[in-house]
Amino acid sequence: MDMQEIAARGLVLLGCGKMGSAMLAGWLEGGLPAASVWVIDPHPSDWLKGTGVHLNAELPKAPGIVLIAVKPQMMGEALPTLQSYGNGQTLFISVAAGTSIATFQDILGAGTPIVRAMPNTPAAVGRGITAIIGNAHAAPKDLKRAEGLLQAVGQTVRLENEGQMDAVTGVSGSGPAYVFHLIETLAAAGEAQGLPTELAMQLAKATVAGAGALAEAAEDSPGQLRVNVTSPNGTTQAALEVLMDEQDGFPALLKRAVAAATDRSKELSRG
Ligand SMILES: NC(=O)c1ccc[n+]([C@@H]2O[C@H](COP(=O)([O-])OP(=O)(O)OC[C@H]3O[C@@H](n4cnc5c(N)ncnc54)[C@H](OP(=O)(O)O)[C@@H]3O)[C@@H](O)[C@H]2O)c1
Repeated sequence: MDMQEIAARGLVLLGCGKMGSAMLAGWLEGGLPAASVWVIDPHPSDWLKGTGVHLNAELPKAPGIVLIAVKPQMMGEALPTLQSYGNGQTLFISVAAGTSIATFQDILGAGTPIVRAMPNTPAAVGRGITAIIGNAHAAPKDLKRAEGLLQAVGQTVRLENEGQMDAVTGVSGSGPAYVFHLIETLAAAGEAQGLPTELAMQLAKATVAGAGALAEAAEDSPGQLRVNVTSPNGTTQAALEVLMDEQDGFPALLKRAVAAATDRSKELSRG
């Protein structure tokens, strides 16, 4: 990212909770000077107070970027304070789930460059993935600037249309929670087979983290990696016969889970 350009015009962060803090930490580590950042948050954390950013201070006249990281239900209260930056040169980036580009345009004006983004919580350890989509006023350089900022906390991908955002929410936005539950249930299943609680949890965490890292690093597809570790009539095959059952296994279960999250995302964006 061109940190110098962002540093010169200033960046406003609205809402500095889990997601806002993860991003801010990434930017500061990436070399963005704290003096170029203005944060608005009613209850700043001790960490935030120690960063040296402008905190709940008077905002710059025309910041380069405003990044919105408040909960969707706070949007109605929080956004009008930024209305004066609408229809101008300030790029708005929102990571709020379920708040559509149309909603932002209604409040900020249709001439505002807006990028809607869906990150996920591994952003807290720099391993997030964020999907982005811009409105008609977001120029290619705006999308690049948004990517530059969001890449401070992981990978980015571009969507073709905003309609894909609901399914992205169902896969990567909410997905970390599915994997946390996989860890919990894998550990509990190990306990059921007689392992001590802590050992089962350590095995489950390391297995999920290690398999995830291998799946990302390997040239083989996850399907091939699975085949590679499945010897005929072996232990893995015995388990996979349960997990891959078309009716009761992962295929049907995850399809239903992702569909439920996608449907809920659609409902939320309808308000
Ligand atoms: N966490 C995720 O996995 C995830 C994934 C994708 C997208 N998102 C999106 O990211 C956004 C933030 O989520 P989060 O998990 O970071 O939530 P969070 O931890 O609750 O952070 C929101 C922050 O905004 C502050 N705030 C509330 N009202 C405000 C106002 N009027 N002006 C300025 N700041 C205000 C809150 O302060 P108080 O706590 O004092 O109210 C809090 O510090 C949400 O819109 C969510 O949809 C989150």
